[in-house]
Formats: sequence, C-alpha cells, structure tokens
Amino acid sequence: MERVKTGIPGLDDLLNGGIPKNQLVLVTGTSGTGKTIMCTQFIYNGVTMFKENGVYLSFEEPDYYLKENVKSFGWDLDKLEKAGKFSFIKYDPYNVEDVLNILESTIKEIGAKRIAIDSISALGLYVRDKAELRRLIFNVAMILRRLECTSMLVSEIVYGSKGISRYGVEEFVSDAVIVMYYERFQSSFLRAMQLWKLRGSQHSEKLHPYKIDENGMTVLSDQEAFIV
Ligand SMILES: Nc1ncnc2c1ncn2[C@@H]1O[C@H](COP(=O)(O)OP(=O)(O)OP(=O)(O)O)[C@@H](O)[C@H]1O
Ligand SMILES: [Mg+2]
Repeated sequence: MERVKTGIPGLDDLLNGGIPKNQLVLVTGTSGTGKTIMCTQFIYNGVTMFKENGVYLSFEEPDYYLKENVKSFGWDLDKLEKAGKFSFIKYDPYNVEDVLNILESTIKEIGAKRIAIDSISALGLYVRDKAELRRLIFNVAMILRRLECTSMLVSEIVYGSKGISRYGVEEFVSDAVIVMYYERFQSSFLRAMQLWKLRGSQHSEKLHPYKIDENGMTVLSDQEAFIV
C-alpha cells in the first residue's frame, strides 16, 4: 500500500509509514489540542518536503489568522500560495452546497494532492438535519477520494462529552482516526494522542505523548503516555 508521509516527526511511525494514499484521516480532540497545527504541518510539509500541493479549507479562521499563527514555526504559507502550490479557502457558507464546487475547482486548479478541512464538524452549524449532515460529509469524502487526494478532516470534541467526534458521524466516513488529548495529570497538563483506527493496517495501540514547540508538532512515538 502506498503511503503519504506527513513529515511530522513521530507521526508516520504511528501510522506504520504514513497515511495510506487517497485515504481520509479524522483529526479529533478538544479545543487547543493542536488539530489546526497538525493539519497545517501536514500541508506545509507536503509542499516543502514532498512536492505535493495542498489546499486548506477553513470554516473557522480567516487566512491571515492562520498564516500569522504558524509564522512562529517558520512556515510561510503566503510564499507557497504565491508560488501556486498552496491555496487557502475561507468559507462563509450561505449556500452550503457551494462549498463542494469551490473545493473541487480549487483542488483541480493547483493540482492539490493533500487537503485539510478545518473543521468538518463546522458543517453541522449550517445543516441542522442529521441525515443531511451525514450526506454532506459523505459527499465531501467522495470528492476527495475521486480526486485522489489524501486528507485530514478536523472534528472537535466538546470537553467532557462522550464520543470521538462532534456529531458522531465524522468517524464513519474516515479511514483513520487520530484522537488528541490535553488532560490534567497531577499539577500539570499533558498532551497525548492515540491512533483510534487505521483501516487495512496494523498500527500502534498505545497512547503517545506529543509536544508543540518552535518546530511545530513532534510525536514521541517511542514513548507511552499515562493519563486517565
Ligand atoms: N508557537 C507555539 N509554540 C508552542 N506552542 C504553541 C505555539 N503555537 C500554539 N501552541 C500551542 O498549540 C495550541 C493551539 O493549537 P491549535 O490551534 O492547533 O489547537 P486546535 O486543536 O486547533 O484548537 P481549536 O479546537 O480551538 O481550534 C495552543 O493552545 C498552544 O498550547
Ligand atoms: Mg483549530
């Protein structure tokens, strides 16, 4: 099976070499766990290390916000965008069906191979009906597969809630799920992640610590985390 390396230190080890090509990974966790950073690093590395163009679709943040935030890691997204290797879509949905066309045309325009959608749960704000939401998420997934992209989809977990996604449908369209935790242990908070599923592959079943510093995200794939 061909693998797409994220280039995020340690993460590819958890994924047994990388994300299986054309698959969808759900990146899920409570607020502040680092979901946006993981997606951005995946896209940025794609262009700079692996010559694969990327699209970032955001429902949450305008482009200058994301771009400013990741400058501290040394990632210059403006430069990639000017070179036609990266495209940021900020979506303000009045007609949610539009988003599929915009996404598809942007992917084709720059020949993108890596896509991040931050967040897929945001669609739930505009589509109240659960069946309709499921259909919409399913359609997004279908487009990404048809265009042979490898993708990260973000879902938020509301702190204290049960389940691994916001609406309980996001994980079903995804081939893999990464759950990120930020939990108190004694007097401090620890970051840890777990690969919840990876279709068709063996993978780590442990909880692994990760850190976010001036280099972005690093997963300590050879260590185990102990949080309750
Ligand atoms: N330059 C940096 N150095 C160290 N840590 C940082 C840096 N930038 C961000 N962080 C850490 O990353 C966290 C935010 O990560 P990120 O925005 O990816 O989270 P998120 O899961 O997307 O959150 P949300 O669900 O609210 O969008 C911050 O709370 C901070 O702890
Ligand atoms: Mg975020």
